[in-house]
Amino acid sequence: MTALDEAARALKEARRIVVFSGAGVSAESGIDTFRTEGGFWQRYSPEEFGTPMGLAKLYATDPARLARFLEELVGPIACAAPNPGHQALFELERGVAGRGGALSVITQNVDELHQAAGSSRVHEIHGSLFHIVDAEGRALRRLERPELARIADALARAQRGPFKRSRIARAMLPLIGLPRAGDLTQPRHRPSVVMFGEALAEPAWQRAQDEARRADAVLVVGTSGLVYPAATIPEIAAEAGARVVEVGPERAFEGIWLPGQAGVVLPELVSRVQHLSGGALNP
Ligand code: OAD
Repeated sequence: MTALDEAARALKEARRIVVFSGAGVSAESGIDTFRTEGGFWQRYSPEEFGTPMGLAKLYATDPARLARFLEELVGPIACAAPNPGHQALFELERGVAGRGGALSVITQNVDELHQAAGSSRVHEIHGSLFHIVDAEGRALRRLERPELARIADALARAQRGPFKRSRIARAMLPLIGLPRAGDLTQPRHRPSVVMFGEALAEPAWQRAQDEARRADAVLVVGTSGLVYPAATIPEIAAEAGARVVEVGPERAFEGIWLPGQAGVVLPELVSRVQHLSGGALNP
């Protein structure tokens, strides 16, 4: 039996499936990963750009670099659409639901592409770029993709020409607010993305762990599995008896590994699962 057949059989036999996804599932939608060659954390240091204190400091000392980072982060997400990998995961959800089971997606991504593909149960354990929160984590407002695209454009324009500092501050304002005088360690507001050293997003994290414990199979897609505690999800599921299937060019977990790109491998895998299930898809 090939690994693809074995993986398809494990998913077909599962009543409850959790998908655990990372940046790799969105790579074919034009969004950079973090740790692969040329990825975000190779171009920008995570200590400076991945912590609230680092952001607050950059805001004051090097706003141009912060603006470039934000533009590179926000621009591709604002313009992105789901790829065949995201779409296959939605098809799998429909197929599993048609057999009386359930599939949920536990994602480390902040790009909402699983939801855009139609996935209905998505736990965003690293938060979302689309929600702006204050320094205490209270929701302030939601930004839609066109608004994020306008912000990315404004950030690009502000980095050119004279009087950069004030124009950059204005362009960043919808995303990041000047730190308060009494607390220079935190921006006044920012996207509700979980940064290094912070607790994972709730109630998503609690629900994700509960679902991992109850899963019969976990489908890992496009993650290096290096960021904890997120990366405990496949371990929690495996310890509770779930089969592990992993898709991506590199292997991070024990289980059945299907090497390759999510946008190529997932459609093949899902069509194999459907074939084994009698080809029936929920209309
Ligand atoms: P990484 O950049 O660490 O890993 C991405 C993984 O995707 C690597 O294993 C790549 O080999 C794989 N990959 C690349 N292209 C792929 C493709 N087309 N199909 C499938 N896989 C592909 O990204 P994450 O594991 O998501 O945190 O990183 C975890 C967290 O670290 C992120 O959520 C982020 C970051 O700091 C926050 O934003 C809070």
